[in-house]
Amino acid sequence: MDIEEEIRSLQLDSAEENNGVINPEDAKSEEVEKLDRMEEDSKDDVTLNSKEVQAESKDKEVSAPRDIETPDEMEEDNKKRHLNVVFIGHVDAGKSTTGGQILFLSGQVDDRTIQKYEKEAKDKSRESWYMAYIMDTNEEERVKGKTVEVGRAHFETETTRFTILDAPGHKSYVPNMISGASQADVGVLVISARKGEFETGYDRGGQTREHVQLAKTLGVSKLLVVVNKMDDPTVNWSKERYDEIELKMTPFLKSSGYNVKKDVQFLPISGLLGTNMKSRMDKSVCSWWNGPCLFEALDAIEVPLRDPKGPLRMPIIDKFKDMGTVVMGKVESGSVTEGDSLLVMPNKIQVKVVAVYCDENKVRRAGPGENLRVRLSGIDDEDILAGFVLSSVAKPIAAVTEFVAQLQILELLDNAIFTAGYKAVLHIHSVVEECEIVELLQQIDPKTKKPMKKKVLFVKNGAVVVCRVQVNNLICIEKFADFPQLGRFTLRTEGKTVAVGKVTELPSVSN
Ligand code: GTP
Ligand code: MG
Repeated sequence: MDIEEEIRSLQLDSAEENNGVINPEDAKSEEVEKLDRMEEDSKDDVTLNSKEVQAESKDKEVSAPRDIETPDEMEEDNKKRHLNVVFIGHVDAGKSTTGGQILFLSGQVDDRTIQKYEKEAKDKSRESWYMAYIMDTNEEERVKGKTVEVGRAHFETETTRFTILDAPGHKSYVPNMISGASQADVGVLVISARKGEFETGYDRGGQTREHVQLAKTLGVSKLLVVVNKMDDPTVNWSKERYDEIELKMTPFLKSSGYNVKKDVQFLPISGLLGTNMKSRMDKSVCSWWNGPCLFEALDAIEVPLRDPKGPLRMPIIDKFKDMGTVVMGKVESGSVTEGDSLLVMPNKIQVKVVAVYCDENKVRRAGPGENLRVRLSGIDDEDILAGFVLSSVAKPIAAVTEFVAQLQILELLDNAIFTAGYKAVLHIHSVVEECEIVELLQQIDPKTKKPMKKKVLFVKNGAVVVCRVQVNNLICIEKFADFPQLGRFTLRTEGKTVAVGKVTELPSVSN
C-alpha cells in the first residue's frame, strides 16, 4: 500500500471492508475481559487523580488509559473510520447519562463500578445520577449533578471508532460546549420528553435552541435527535409525546440550517435504562417504534470526507510540556506524519513533529478528523496559545486582524441595536478573541437571500448582515467556502450568543 492510499484508509475505510474483520478487543473471552476490567477498576482512583492534574485542558478524559501501542499494532484498529460526536442539549436532558450508558453497554464500565457510583450518588442525594457519574468525573460536577467540563470518552461499533464529547447544558458553560462542538462532525441532540422539560429547553433562552444554532455554525453537519426519558412516568413511551416533539423541533432545525431529511434523524431512547441504545427496541416496551437503535444510527452516519492530501490545518486547543512541547487538537485538513516540518501560526515558528498520538496510541501519521496530541521540537510551550494553528509550510493558514463576514443576528441583549462599534467575543474554531464590528456593508433579505439596496447603518434581532470585523491580535482563520470548519464563528457577549457567522472575505495580503 503506498503512503497516500494508507492515509486515505485511515479515514475512508467503509463498513464493507471491515466486514469479517475481528477486532482483537471483541475476540477476548468474557473471563479475560472481567480480569482486565477489575485491573482497570483498581486503577480508577489513580486515573481520576491524573485527570485533575491535567485539568489545564478544557476537556476531561474519561476512559481508562490503554497501553501505548506500536505503530504496527495500530494498523488493524485504524481500518475503522473515526468520528467525533458531541452530546448537546438543555441542562439535565440526560447527555451524561446517555454517554455513560453507552460506555456501560459497550463494556467499558463494569457492574462493580456502577454499584460504586450508585452508592456515591446516593450519598450525595443524587440517586438517579449514577450513570452520569461515568462522564461527570469532577467532584463539583457530581455534587451539583451538572457537567462543567466537556467529558471525553471512546467507544467502538462494528464500523467506527467514536470519541464522545459530553458537553455541559447549563447556560453558564456555553463556552465549554462551543469548544466541544467545534471538534465534532456529528451531534447527538438530547431532548428530555419529561413533562415540562422539553418545553423549558425549547423556549426562547433554552439551550436546546442555542446549542442547535451553535452546533450548525461550528460545523456539526449531522444530528441525531434522541428523545430521551421516554421511560419517565409522565411519558411512558407515548407516541403522541414523541410526535409532538418531532413536530415542534423539525421547523426549528430547518430554520437553523439543517436539511432535516438528509442530515437529521430522530429516535426515542431511555438513556437511564439503556433502552433502544445498543439493541433495538423491545416491542413489549414500545410497540410503535420500528426504526433503528442509537448504535445503529451512529454506525450509519455518513459525514463529508475531508481531504487527507489538503494543506495541514490543526487548530490547537491546548498545549503542555512533556519531553518537549505537546499540542492538542483536531486535524481539519491534511495529515500529520512523524518527522514533518510544519509552521505554528500566526507566529510563524517552524517546528518538527517528534511524535503523533491518536487518543492514547502512538501513530506514525494521522489524517483529517482525528483528535491528536503532537509532540513538537523547535518551540517553547509558552510561545503557543489556544487558537494557534499547526499548519503546512507550503500553504500556511492566513493570519489576519480583519475580515468580512456574513452574520445572522440571533438575540441581542436587551434588544439592543447592532451597528458599527458593536463589541463582542469572537469564537472561531479554538480562537477566543475580543472583536469589534467596524462597518456594516450590506443587509441580506432572509427570504430572497439577496442584498438589500438600502444603505445599512444598524440592524436588529433576526437580521442577516455582511460586515467588517476587527480583532486586536492576529488570528488564523479561513474563508467558510474553503474550509467550513475554520470559517464559521459565533459572537457572544455577557455569556450569551448574540450572532453566528461565516467568514466571506480575507484581506488579500494576509500573512
Ligand atoms: P448537564 O450536564 O447538567 O447539562 O445535564 P445532562 O444533560 O448531562 O443530564 P444528566 O445525564 O446529568 O441527567 C440529569 C437527570 O436526568 C438525572 O437525574 C438523570 O438520572 C435523569 N435522566 C437522564 N436520562 C434519563 C432517562 O432516560 N430516564 C429518566 N427517567 N431519567 C433520566
Ligand atoms: Mg452532563
